[in-house]
Amino acid sequence: MSPDPIQEIEAGLLAIGDEYRQRFATALTEHELRNVRADILGKKGALTRVLRAMGAVPSDRKREMGERVNAARAEVESAFETRLVELRQALRQAELSATPFDLSLPGRSPAPRGHRHPISLVRQEILEIFKSLGFETAWGPEVEHEVNNFTKLAFPPDHPATDLQDTFWVRVLGGAPEARVLLRTQTSTVQVREMTRHSAPLAIVSGGSVYRRDDDVTHSPMFHQIEGLLVNENVSFAELKGVLTQFVHRLYGERAVRFRPSYFPFVEPGAELDVACVFCEADLSTRASCRICKGTGWLEILGCGMVHPSVLEHCGIDAERFTGFAFGLGVERVAMLRYGIPDIRILFENDPRFLAEF
Ligand code: PHE
Repeated sequence: MSPDPIQEIEAGLLAIGDEYRQRFATALTEHELRNVRADILGKKGALTRVLRAMGAVPSDRKREMGERVNAARAEVESAFETRLVELRQALRQAELSATPFDLSLPGRSPAPRGHRHPISLVRQEILEIFKSLGFETAWGPEVEHEVNNFTKLAFPPDHPATDLQDTFWVRVLGGAPEARVLLRTQTSTVQVREMTRHSAPLAIVSGGSVYRRDDDVTHSPMFHQIEGLLVNENVSFAELKGVLTQFVHRLYGERAVRFRPSYFPFVEPGAELDVACVFCEADLSTRASCRICKGTGWLEILGCGMVHPSVLEHCGIDAERFTGFAFGLGVERVAMLRYGIPDIRILFENDPRFLAEF
């Protein structure tokens, strides 16, 4: 015998009435509450199941039974809304009465910011000075051909600088024996490249790493140079003196300079530029014992000279028409004098305690 559909619906509504009241009351979160609602009103929910019995209800009772089912649904909906408001209020209340955020707590400090290495700082400063004097910056490779490092710069083939003791030669597998390759020993290579490529007139500065077989307190096998070159018609030693004196004054302040004759194969005449010792100049009683200038009162700053005509010709420049001057300096030496660094090796150990001082 099939059950009486009216009884079935009434029993179902009664059961739902008990169920939702109890489960809504014990739901503690909005999520739980919504699940309970779905269990009753959802597609597979209890009330939906009750509705299925409506088909078998005799037509004279359909309307009444339909109204009762709808009333039950409305009751569940409004109980749900009431409980939802209750739960939200409780949550808000809990947030308000919880221990407040302590806005005065220090935040997590960001990772320490990096900064430029002292060598980069000094190099930048020097390049800027020459840029403001009208020189353009040029760059070249650290692995070079012998021609650009020595031959075109008028080093004779047996010059001691070309010796294995002084230069890092690079063995190129399958390379022709006459096309020798090395780690550049000076940034004059960039000047050779620029003169060969662009001819005259030109005014360039170049900087970068250079390599020599040298290793002691003041020499490192890798160090940094900045070199400059100006080639034009009617360039004389007067221009050399003017530009380099201006440079030294900007870098070290307005102190005395002197040009001392010296020899480099690629210049004639050649000179060394000295600046009055920045350490003992102010108190001459300390001069005799000054370890920086060794009591001479002068610091050697850079090498310079008028470009040798043969170098111009090697690079395709008409030496009858053009003349020029060149200079070169070690960036480490400038940094050591500037910051009072006694040992060049500290610059390359990358000890954060040292680097943090800049
Ligand atoms: N290239 C030279 C060196 O490394 C420096 C220098 C450059 C000297 C230009 C004179 C002119 O010692």
